[in-house]
Amino acid sequence: MSELSRFGVSLEKGLLVKFDQLIKKKNCANRSEAFRDLIRQELIKEEWQGGKEIAGAVILIYDHHKRELVNKLTDIQHNHQTIIISTQHIHLDHNNCLEIIAVKGTPKEAKELADTLTSVKGVKHGTLSMSSTGKAID
Ligand code: NI
Repeated sequence: MSELSRFGVSLEKGLLVKFDQLIKKKNCANRSEAFRDLIRQELIKEEWQGGKEIAGAVILIYDHHKRELVNKLTDIQHNHQTIIISTQHIHLDHNNCLEIIAVKGTPKEAKELADTLTSVKGVKHGTLSMSSTGKAID
């Protein structure tokens, strides 16, 4: 960890009360940790908006019995193999599968992949978790 710097923050009392309630709800260790999380969240947003290299995950829920669905999802992933770094498939129950596709690339590529996979007929839910390669949030 890099050297710590301290600074004071002035807040309206009402806002501080709400911040403390949020910290409690999120089980954050303390105000400093909560504040660091908020800053990192904003920096990640900035990374995604700035078009820099990002990391994230596409999460899909689907019924593998649907005709051709698995083949289509596999074809799409092969066409985007330059940004996919790993895929994990979990058989949730007799019908449902959970797929976690880890990606590293530009935000545009990640969003395109997530949209393409999510829009395949038979995918029950798809979401893109936007995270960071970690370099910009130290
Ligand atoms: Ni499965």
